[in-house]
Amino acid sequence: MYDFAPEPGLAKPELYRQLHQAAAALTEGERDAVANMANVAALVRDFVPGLNWAGFYRMVEGELVLGPFAGRPACIRIPLGRGVCGTCAATGQTQLVDDVHAFPGHIACDAASRSELVVPVARDGAVIAVIDLDSPHLARFDSEDAAGFEALATLLSDRI
Ligand code: SME
Repeated sequence: MYDFAPEPGLAKPELYRQLHQAAAALTEGERDAVANMANVAALVRDFVPGLNWAGFYRMVEGELVLGPFAGRPACIRIPLGRGVCGTCAATGQTQLVDDVHAFPGHIACDAASRSELVVPVARDGAVIAVIDLDSPHLARFDSEDAAGFEALATLLSDRI
């Protein structure tokens, strides 16, 4: 049995350090991308408070396709440049959106979502996936969350 859990009341940098450590241990030596994305999505759900959706979209033949996640069923295919995820994949830049209703072209997968953080996973200079986090709270994410997930994306670059 795996039993990774954050200590209660951690400041964000330490929380993300522990999440990174757990993700590194869970994916170490495992070559199956789906298994690794599934375990990391489950870890994020357990570690990061205030989320209603956490998971992956993968770059498949020039568009984003839904990958392993924790949350409600979501839209399956997202063209590059569309919505928050498609913008992240097209630009290779982290997207931190305080209010999804103010983001042009936002794709509503869960009506409860109010803010969103999307981080690219790159390999050899190309975006191979994005990590998508949704929250029912306005302005849930800040630069410490972005830095934490960018470090996770770097770890996963050659594990998914
Ligand atoms: N809101 C995202 C779509 C994915 S769902 O949030 C899971 C977007 O605008 O790209």
